[in-house]
Amino acid sequence: MIETEIQVKPEVKVEESVEARPVIQLEHISKIYQTGDIEVHALRGVSLTIRAGEFVAIMGASGSGKSTMMNIIGCLDRPTKGRYILDSEDVSGLSKDERADIRNRYIGFVFQGFNLLSRTSALENVELPIIYAGLHAHERTKRGLEALHAVGLQGREYNHPNQLSGGQQQRVAVARALVNHPSLILADEPTGNLDSRTSVEVMEIFQRLNREKGLTIVLVTHEPDIAQYATRVVVFKDGRIKRDYQVQDRLDAREQLEAMSNAPEMDDDDDE
Ligand SMILES: Nc1ncnc2c1ncn2[C@@H]1O[C@H](COP(=O)(O)OP(=O)(O)O)[C@@H](O)[C@H]1O
Ligand SMILES: [Mg+2]
Repeated sequence: MIETEIQVKPEVKVEESVEARPVIQLEHISKIYQTGDIEVHALRGVSLTIRAGEFVAIMGASGSGKSTMMNIIGCLDRPTKGRYILDSEDVSGLSKDERADIRNRYIGFVFQGFNLLSRTSALENVELPIIYAGLHAHERTKRGLEALHAVGLQGREYNHPNQLSGGQQQRVAVARALVNHPSLILADEPTGNLDSRTSVEVMEIFQRLNREKGLTIVLVTHEPDIAQYATRVVVFKDGRIKRDYQVQDRLDAREQLEAMSNAPEMDDDDDE
């Protein structure tokens, strides 16, 4: 048999879109915030399915409903109307405690502002989500170290946040999101406070976790460049999905980092 397909860039792995199991199923989700007599319709009937192993970038103007949707996906908040099925379980009607339990079992969160405790070491910050998990101290430490090493922070375990760069702090936050072995990572503007090189470093970690561990990732960004690292982009406008498409010419963060370290700074040679 002769392979007739032309591979333009054989070194870039092309992800096949297999019909994996749905992790997130949002059905006609509405969210209305009531402040005094004013109703804000933050989401107006959003339906969206995200499957295991997808890496989705959520985009849209400020106020379009991105964070509201992330809060619902992350079981931090409930929809006013509609159904949300997370990993085959209908979570739309769960109580606060039940939602907390689901979060601990399935979901890791990464925020724009890192949200690290300043007077505690990287390791202690990472162990926080599993402090009440009933693990032995040594098991907790083992998991914390594993997570820190997964984000490349060997040797930084006992540094406090103020002894770490912004990118390293965000990596601690990613490690903290990984420590309870979630199947879903939710990140709201995780590169919003980072310079462009550091942003690529953080995206390299997300891409690696997505590829190697099959983690499903949903990431909010307003930067089109950052969205190019995802496999799919969903654009919100006024509480509705305006566009939903697969990323063409996906960026590979590892390749980009290699190119950056080989090239002198700000000298972007066109090598095609
Ligand atoms: N807790 C809240 N109470 C009242 N209104 C809110 C609340 N959170 C968000 N909103 C409003 O809902 C809309 C969507 O907000 P949000 O989801 O934060 O958008 P985005 O993350 O895309 O900037 C905005 O009009 C915002 O002002
Ligand atoms: Mg927001």
